[in-house]
Amino acid sequence: PYFAAFNDFQKLEDEIKQTFDLQRVIITPGDSDRDHWVKDELGRRAVAFLQANLTKKQTIAVTGGTSMAAVAEVMQPTEKSTDCTFVPARGGLGERVENQANTICAEMANKMKGDYRLLYVPDPLSEETYRSIIEEPGVKETLHMIKQADLVMHGIGDALTMAERRKASSDVLTKLKSGKAISEAFGYYFDQRGQVVHKVRTVGMQLEDLSNIKTVVAVAGGESKAKAIESYLRQGKSTVLITDEGAAEALIKDF
Ligand code: F6P
Repeated sequence: PYFAAFNDFQKLEDEIKQTFDLQRVIITPGDSDRDHWVKDELGRRAVAFLQANLTKKQTIAVTGGTSMAAVAEVMQPTEKSTDCTFVPARGGLGERVENQANTICAEMANKMKGDYRLLYVPDPLSEETYRSIIEEPGVKETLHMIKQADLVMHGIGDALTMAERRKASSDVLTKLKSGKAISEAFGYYFDQRGQVVHKVRTVGMQLEDLSNIKTVVAVAGGESKAKAIESYLRQGKSTVLITDEGAAEALIKDF
């Protein structure tokens, strides 16, 4: 049922909410795999959610990717959410500049008339560099803000698509394939049951930190991402899902 009215999705939203134990599910009509404007609409719904839920002086951590870039694209200032600070959830994950968390974070802050902090970390990070970089005062301060974030907004990707997009080494690809990785978020790759198969070594938000954050919003759509969304949601660290009709229907059919 393409082009259904927004409120027609109430039943589907409730079903997904219950299945994955989420606080809120928002579905926008269409399938972003097929039509580009659906991703823009996902962005609008995500911005509307932020506007309704943010208050003054909050810290918002964001990840990279094209869905988050679509959110940044339509970001708008509000009176309620002044003096907010945007931070990238994690350091370099191998994305193109326009899809990096740093870029998205700065764009969102500028459009919201807020502030931002960035994480400049080389990518990929050796164990040695990792250890010294987290001791840098500037990095330490940003890391502290990340862990104290009031709200996190993030993308979810298909595991192998993401590994290829990031030009992962053949060793990593082999590990993901043998571990049957299905989804990726925050630099973590998960299998069908939501178990971590591999993790990109970078600074910032760790999966366990998400449990301390009140609102964790996933923004991901397209029928082709349904399996990835399901796999990611299995480990249950997000509280809100903003998706499209294409992914939502496949998600329920699959379950
Ligand atoms: O690389 C950042 C990231 O948020 C990943 O964690 C996620 O898998 C991906 O981007 C989603 O990207 P897109 O919205 O382009 O599918």
